Parts: sequence; structure tokens; C-alpha cells
Amino acid sequence: MPLITMQYTTTADNMSNKKRKILVTSALPYANGAIHLGHMLEYIQTDIWARFQRSQGHECYFAWADDAHGTPVMLRAEAEDIAPEELITRMNTEHQQDFRDFGLSFDNYATTHGDANRQCVETIYNRLNEGGYVVRRTISQFFDEDKGMFLPDRFIRGTCPKCKSEDQYGDSCEVCGSTYSPTDLIDPRSVVSGTAPVMRDSEHYFVRLSEFEDRLQSWMASAALQPEVVNKMQEWFDDGLRDWDISRDEPYFGFKIPDTDDKYFYVWVDAPIGYMASFKELCDRTNLDFDEWWKPDTDTELYHFVGKDIIYFHILFWPAMLMGANLRPPTAVYAHGFLTVDGAKMSKSRGTFIRARTYLDHLNPDYLRYYFCARLGPGMADIDLSLDDFVTRVNSDMVGKVVNIASRCAGFIQRGFNGQLATELPDPGLYQQFLDQRDLIADDYEQRNYQSAIRRIMALADEGNRYINEHKPWQLNKQEDQQQRVQAICTEGINLFRILVTYLAPVVPFTASKAAEFLDIDVEEWSGLNEPLLGVSVNPFQPLMTRVDPVKIASMIDESKENLQSSDETSELDLADEISIEDFLRVDLRIAKIVGAEAVPEADKLLRLTLDIGGGVRHVFAGIKSAYDPADLIGRHTVMVANLKPRKMRFGVSEGMVLAAGPGGSDLFILSPDKGAIPGMRVT
Ligand code: 2FM
Ligand code: ZN
Repeated sequence: MPLITMQYTTTADNMSNKKRKILVTSALPYANGAIHLGHMLEYIQTDIWARFQRSQGHECYFAWADDAHGTPVMLRAEAEDIAPEELITRMNTEHQQDFRDFGLSFDNYATTHGDANRQCVETIYNRLNEGGYVVRRTISQFFDEDKGMFLPDRFIRGTCPKCKSEDQYGDSCEVCGSTYSPTDLIDPRSVVSGTAPVMRDSEHYFVRLSEFEDRLQSWMASAALQPEVVNKMQEWFDDGLRDWDISRDEPYFGFKIPDTDDKYFYVWVDAPIGYMASFKELCDRTNLDFDEWWKPDTDTELYHFVGKDIIYFHILFWPAMLMGANLRPPTAVYAHGFLTVDGAKMSKSRGTFIRARTYLDHLNPDYLRYYFCARLGPGMADIDLSLDDFVTRVNSDMVGKVVNIASRCAGFIQRGFNGQLATELPDPGLYQQFLDQRDLIADDYEQRNYQSAIRRIMALADEGNRYINEHKPWQLNKQEDQQQRVQAICTEGINLFRILVTYLAPVVPFTASKAAEFLDIDVEEWSGLNEPLLGVSVNPFQPLMTRVDPVKIASMIDESKENLQSSDETSELDLADEISIEDFLRVDLRIAKIVGAEAVPEADKLLRLTLDIGGGVRHVFAGIKSAYDPADLIGRHTVMVANLKPRKMRFGVSEGMVLAAGPGGSDLFILSPDKGAIPGMRVT
């Protein structure tokens, strides 16, 4: 049957070809630390979306920056004994190198400490001020007299006013989960100098957020927000919108507020404005019209990809600032969940706090891009990088299914036909079947339902392999009179591969560009797929992606392990006061089996454990939420203090204590007995 190219169609061909103008951003990384895989989850999610939009023929820019201001950057530079400018310049270079090596296709990368941002910040602030949205008020806060600085909540520690646990943060207790104001802490002290802070008055600048309530409400109704985000926003409206403190006192690394001598913009004012400033730099470098993109009635689109922990800033403060300055609000803010590694928070001592650079030193960036893509959905669920699953998925999907189709066909075409493809497809129906998925896959990408896109693409890859298995070109190749058939079957296979690689190009750009070299065509624009590759030559096949080597994963983890207690530190262990054996024997330690474990939703750190200790069960609150997934604990044996006086906590009574070791956060390890120990056994 002779083929007419135009017979391959997709419904998209019939849709209007309106070229959209899209600007996307990722959250700006702080300039005081290295990029890690937690950051990369978001940047990869954003980059896939941006590349996808371009593949549909839209005009799409990806612009962002380093978040260079604030107290942590200032203190880190001080600790390194360098100027903050030197620190942020170094970080910016390192960050950009990591991003390029991960294949992020950003159009501009700025710093919030640049001229473009200063201009944008001043314009927005002046407009807010002229609009009457800024008020001044004197407030009283903790001040470190030794350091001569006001202290952010996180830089104050003391004894929890509720449960009396020592060494808790200024805004919340890691042991009982309660939140409070730093002034409620017992024995507060400054993390910076160790001294007791004093209360001091200072005048602050506030944005009257409540003035924007109506506009924010209608924006919420019209913007493309996730249902979870709308719920959160509604809760904040219900609580009432409070004035937002936008100023900080000296010393502070940031931009000065116009017409003041010693007041700086809070870092969260100029950070989101950095999105705009980065785009401004791009406009200045190219022929883009900045005002067209930011005027209130623009028909351009603006999307922010952010972590679920910072939506507050993006759906209240940021749109309010834009509205108050008569600029366009975002089209949508897309929030994602956190990254866990092997079911737990990333941990430096376990080696799962993996820096972008460490990953790149060992593994192909496309592996991680593919894996994240296969796990990401449109919601805010956390994503687990399970290292075993990572190896299996990449090897079986990318290497075993997709690349396999090309490598099974390329040799026959190269050796038997000098790279020349046949002039007809032997199974045009199958080609059309692959094309028929195009709109569905595109819709999945558009909706950020990447896992669904991958499922569809892999189902097609299975079909492609089934086709080759069925027609067995390696057998036909042995017969002289079947040569044309071999060429036709392999031409079909290579065309199917070309469709798959085009669908996957936003995800695995390095592999896609090698595939483009092999096919000798561009694989980025999806519209090109209507025309199959017939009668043309392909280039000799080079391996497009090799299998993930588990040994390299082990070396990466090893290299990421930070020994949190060096031997020097151990020799100076700060031991508690000596006790007698009698004192020790008063503590009744028992083997307990964890038969129930659930997170306490209101507490950041707590899990509620149900423990079987032989004669009955106990309920215990343990501050190990940041280190364990509750489901992973069930069935495990551990050690508990069984005769601890029950303590009434905010969420219920705790009937004992589970033993765990480690500095805290995700680095906590519950103690486990050797095998054979049974619930209720006394630990002596
Ligand atoms: O949470 C963070 O890491 C911030 N540096 C994100 C800033 S995003 C934005 F608003 F600029
Ligand atoms: Zn407490």
C-alpha cells in the first residue's frame, strides 16, 4: 500500500495553533549553600514543563536567580571571613554550573543582589507606598547586644515554655511540637553569640495585606491553583490577613528601603521580585518587551513552581505586591512535595543528603530526570527516591525498552542498507497508534501529571518491542529473499523509536540529543512526527544510554556521608554526670515491638507509637517524625524506658520513651535489639 504522508494526523492538528507566551520560574535557591537533590526535584519538574511547552511550538522562557539576601547569607560570609558579595558570586557560579550539567534549559539566571532587582524592588515598593499600602509601627523584639543585631526567631533558642525541654527553637518545640513566640521561651539565648538577648524597640514597615483581600479572593478563583493550595489559602483568609513586616534592621545583607538610613527590605520581599528581575535581564539582552509581560491586562502567562513549604509567600504576599504595584499576578503557582531518599528525610550521616555535584560526578543526569519524572504527579505528595527502584526503573524502562528498540534495528539498517531506511512503513496502523497518544501525553505534561505521561510512553515502548519480537528481523536476515522485509521492519522500529524519543525529549535531553544525531533530525518539535522518516539515511548507532551501575550509586552515597562526629570531637565527649549502678538499675528498659505508628499532624516532629511490651501496649510520643516514615517502623523491635512517669503532652499522654541516637532532624536512629529479643524482655 503506497503511503501518503498526510494520512498521519492528530487531533491537535485541528486545534487552533495559538502560540502561547509563557514565563516559568523555579524557587530561588539561597546563596549560602550547595544545590542538593531536593532542589533538583523542583528544577527538573520545571525544566520538563518548559521544554515541553517549547516542543509544542510555544514561546516559553525559564528565568530565575540566586536568593542572595538575608541573615543566613550574612552570617555564612562572616564565618568564612569574606564579604557577602564574594560568597554570593562564588555560589552563583557553582549553582549555574550544576544546573547546566543537569540539562536545565534556563534562559537567564540572575542574583537578587543585582541592579535589575534593585530597580524592580524600588519600583514596586514606591508604588505600594504611594498607594497607601505601607504603614510604619514600632515593635519590640529580641536583640543580641553582643552582636549588635536583632535576632530572627530561628536564631534564638531556649527552654520550651510548655514541656520544659531545653535547647528548642524560638518559634517551636521539637519535642512537644508546640508553637509560641520567642518571648515565651524560658532562658532564651542568641544562637549567634550565646548571650541572653534583651528586648529592644524598633520601627518596622508593614504592608497592609488585608487591603488586598478582595482582589486575592478573585485571583484565587480565577488562577489555576491546585485544590490543596486553594484550601490552604481559604484557611488563611478565615484566620484574617495580618499586616506583613517587610523591613529588617541593620546589620542585614539586602537592599536599603528608599528614604531610610538603616532599614532593609526583608529577604522575602526581594526574592520573588527576583523572578521579574531575571526576566528583565533577559529582555534587556534580547528583543523582548518587558512591559508587555507584566502589564495587568497582559495575555502572557506566568507560572511559579515552588515547594509546598513556601506557598504562603507565593499566593498571598507576592500577588498582593504585584496587584498593589499595578502589575499582573501569576497565572498559577504549582506546589510540589518534598524529596525523601529510601523512605526517609535526606540525611548527612546516612549519605542520602546528596549534592547535585556529587550526583553528577557519578551518574548520568538523564537517569535522575527520568526517575523524578516517572514519580511526579500534579499534587503535593512527597516523592521518594528509592535507590533500588531508581536502578530498576531506569534500566528496565529507558535502557531495556526505549533505547532497546533502536539498538535492535539500527545494526541491520546500517550493515545491510548502508543506513538507508525503507520508503514505506510496513505497519502504518501501528505508527498511527503511537501518534494517537500524542494529545493525551501532551495533556499529561501540561497538567504536570508526568507519571501518567511516562506510563503511556512506556506502554507504547512495550508495543514497539512486541512488534520487533513478533517479526524477528534477526531470523529474516538470514534469508536472502527477505532482505526488503528486514529493512521495512527495522524502518518501522526506528520510526516508533523516533516517536518515543520525541515524547521523552523534555525529560531526557542528553539522550534525546544523541538520538537526534543518530536519526539525523531534530526530535524536539512534536509537530514533525506527522511525517515518518522514510527513504532517508540514519547515522551509525552509538549507545544512547548505558545501564545504571549500582556500584556508582554506592560510591555516591559513600562520598555523601558526613561523619558528624569526628574522632577529635569524640575524645572530648561532653558526658553527663556520673551515676551509680543503683541509679542506673532504677531505669526499667524493655524490649518493645512497634505495633502502631502514626504521624501527629499538628506536630512537626512527633510520631505516636503503639508499643507491645509483652504484658500490654503503651502509647508513646517520639520526636522521630523527621527521620522515619511511620509505615516503615511497624513490626520493628526497639528499646523503651518503661517506668518513666506518664507525661501529659499537647496531643495526649506519653507512657514512656523510645531510645534513639543522633543529633536530631533526619539524623535520628532508633535502637534495635539483636534478633531473638522478644517484647517485654528486660534490658540490662
Ligand atoms: O525557600 C527558599 O529556598 C527561598 N530561597 C525561595 C525563594 S523563592 C522566591 F520567592 F523567590
Ligand atoms: Zn516542648
